Amino acid sequence: MTETVPPTSVPNDLSVLVIGSGGREHALARAIAADPSVSAVHVAPGNPGTASFATNHPVSITDPDAVAALASQLGADLVVVGPEAPLVAGVADAVRKAGIACFGASQQAAKLEGSKVFAKEVMAAAGVPTAQSRYCTTPEEVEAALEEFGAPHVVKDDGLAAGKGVVVTDDEQEALEHAAGCQAVVVEEYLKGPEVSLFVITDGETALAMQPAQDFKRVGDEDEGPNTGGMGAYSPLPWAPKDLQQRVLDEVALPTLAEMRRRGTPFTGLLYCGLALTDKGIRVIEFNARFGDPETQALMALVDSPMGEVLYRAATGTLAELGELRWRDEYAVTVVLAADGYPGEPEKGGRIELPEDTEDAWTIQAGTALDAKGNLVADGGRVLAVVGRGKDLRTARGAAYTHAGAIDFPTGFHRYDIAEKAAVEQIENSYSEEQQ
Ligand code: AMP
Ligand code: GLY
Repeated sequence: MTETVPPTSVPNDLSVLVIGSGGREHALARAIAADPSVSAVHVAPGNPGTASFATNHPVSITDPDAVAALASQLGADLVVVGPEAPLVAGVADAVRKAGIACFGASQQAAKLEGSKVFAKEVMAAAGVPTAQSRYCTTPEEVEAALEEFGAPHVVKDDGLAAGKGVVVTDDEQEALEHAAGCQAVVVEEYLKGPEVSLFVITDGETALAMQPAQDFKRVGDEDEGPNTGGMGAYSPLPWAPKDLQQRVLDEVALPTLAEMRRRGTPFTGLLYCGLALTDKGIRVIEFNARFGDPETQALMALVDSPMGEVLYRAATGTLAELGELRWRDEYAVTVVLAADGYPGEPEKGGRIELPEDTEDAWTIQAGTALDAKGNLVADGGRVLAVVGRGKDLRTARGAAYTHAGAIDFPTGFHRYDIAEKAAVEQIENSYSEEQQ
């Protein structure tokens, strides 16, 4: 039997199925729906937010056959896989096997995210700069590695942990305890310098860098408290070097894609480059095989290219025909509203009332549900993500925080300092530029 292959010319009435139920998927589906060539948007399982403009379908997202069957049944032209778990489970492979275009890494390629050790091997082979590291399976190995690199200590669980499997600490005891709770860990050299998230859309060969973004991983203001999946984000970065996108393509993304092709497991979909800009140059902190959350919410507020077409081209090997991505000449800030208790056990069921979305500020839903009476309630850790957009960071922040302040969510909390420092520095910079 020959496999059917999706057409490489972009259909002008694209039907798109987005897999996932978080803020990232809400933001992606919203941007895809705004593409005039898209005629239908489905989300599985989706959330009450996606139900307001797309059709939600129940599905077990880590069941490759179930997702492929749903896509076939809906007659979808394109499936976009949001989270990492279905990619690692082989969902993209099953969808492609059913003859449907899929934006998402194959099971083999998703190992770049799923296994820190695999990612380190690929980077070493490709000459991509990253932190020195040691793979440890015994307490003795961990102790030796902590000794070798010194404080601050970085200890990473060698498995998927949704951004929460990493401990960065000056306390050797805490580092040892984290390692003791994992089967295998990677102990790393500490990278000093600002962090940047740079997303690369790729068909395996052609790579398009999105604008750089920054996310805020710690739960509290001033970067206090434990790591989370991300409490907020902004883009673009007024302080970043102008050639950052090109340098990340040349030094990180293109060599990694070439190495993945050489191994016979080309990487297609979204290569998330988590970077530290150190005084020795760009260093990779981690790769992910999917859009980052909540950076995606900010990027989707700014992208001006038709996202249905972009992702379809990436899925069908025709990205080279697209040209560069286009962006609005504006800034976006995302503020996450989490449920009390997050990143530990979040309180479920707290009621939520949302203000109307506006042109400059809107709510993206993530961990929400409807209760028996049809009222919106919290149903996860990161519950909502507010997006504000404006001509500069200060305006975008103002829009986001004003909107967040109008949300009634008594059992939720958010950070107050998302993009604050960058907004102040942007004003200082533009002031000093005017003086010159
Ligand atoms: P990861 O899951 O690998 O992205 O790690 C989560 C967070 O831990 C990163 O976003 C960084 O803030 C921090 N981190 C991870 N690795 C390092 C490192 N080698 N040096 C400094 N910070 C790190
Ligand atoms: N914002 C970090 C992540 O998506 O992993």
